Amino acid sequence: MDGEEGDAVRKSMELLVALGNVFGAEKMVPVESAHISGVSYKNLGEAGTEWLEEQAAMGAKCRIRATLNPAGMDMEKWEEMGVPREFAVGQRRVLKAFTDMGVEPTCTCTPYLIGHVPRRGTQVAWAESNAVCFVNSVLGARTNRESGPTTLASAVTGVAAYYGYRLTENRRPEKIIKVKAELHSRLDYSTLGYVTGKLMKSAVPYFRNMGNPDMESMKTLGAACATSGGITLWHGEGVTPEAEWASQYLEGIETIIVEQKNLDEAKESLMSDPDNPTYCIGCPHCSLKEIEETANLVRGKDLDGKLWVFTSRGVYEQAEKAGLIKVIEDAGGRVYRDTCMVVAPLHEMGWHGVGTNSMKGGHYSVAHGFPTKLATVDELVEEASR
Ligand code: F3S
Repeated sequence: MDGEEGDAVRKSMELLVALGNVFGAEKMVPVESAHISGVSYKNLGEAGTEWLEEQAAMGAKCRIRATLNPAGMDMEKWEEMGVPREFAVGQRRVLKAFTDMGVEPTCTCTPYLIGHVPRRGTQVAWAESNAVCFVNSVLGARTNRESGPTTLASAVTGVAAYYGYRLTENRRPEKIIKVKAELHSRLDYSTLGYVTGKLMKSAVPYFRNMGNPDMESMKTLGAACATSGGITLWHGEGVTPEAEWASQYLEGIETIIVEQKNLDEAKESLMSDPDNPTYCIGCPHCSLKEIEETANLVRGKDLDGKLWVFTSRGVYEQAEKAGLIKVIEDAGGRVYRDTCMVVAPLHEMGWHGVGTNSMKGGHYSVAHGFPTKLATVDELVEEASR
């Protein structure tokens, strides 16, 4: 912080120390990796872009592995998406600033699907709701819910303030969520997450009777509970790595029952009746398995450009090799990398309604003023091909 390693390191340390002081951190700890949010030009605008360019010009360089959240467009197919040229120019500047600082331009909220997989117990500095929930809960690594600037500061310094979910005692469960509803689809898990977030308001839930969710269900559950309630960590009995440890703290804490009607009401709360919406899959970004499932559903259908699939460039490449992108495109669907239905400039792209299987996606769609429909992938594909 005394400037010996240059202005970029000094300023980054100042930010982390200020944050640590606010939260009463007694020290800094080394972090093994960072995942940085705040990448879309839609959210950054000119001021945010210039700030990133200043950091790069000041000589900021990552000293640990750092990956990047989605941008506002597919960096190659932005014209096909209908993204305005001025936006594309701004977005390119953002990516350049990040890559100049040594950040990997992964442009995804699911870096854990493309090889950025922190080990259990390690300290990391991650941002983005689903990524934070996944790394804490499913992988058992440790991070607070960081922001774009603090993750960049941690990438540049290699440390983070030691407070919050970095400490074992703060990872204890605070309420039990007992599920008394059938969870059949990923939308059901997403809705369970959304309901839980509303009920818990950033406390740590311990799920009982949550079935046997696959990785895709866990990523969408985490995204939803982080969106509706700022949840950073959840435990699932028989599901997540710290649940057994967490079970020793269950005595005496409140149990909340979640029933089918709670899930139905949560979905209803976001639903309206969009006229000719764009149907979106991939919030959080699709895994290879999800793309394969989608390809199998759309074979022989005529989607007429109405179904959009969002994923990372890493998963896209694998799907392309497996011939899955061609199957979806041959059916009239579109597959885009680097961006998503929330951080792309949808109004400027001429959208007027959204159909999605993600409660996080639905939440932001409503917040951005779009009539919204929530449905399973099978139902979305059926509707898109009508
Ligand atoms: Fe990811 Fe965008 Fe959804 S960042 S979790 S796909 S809102």
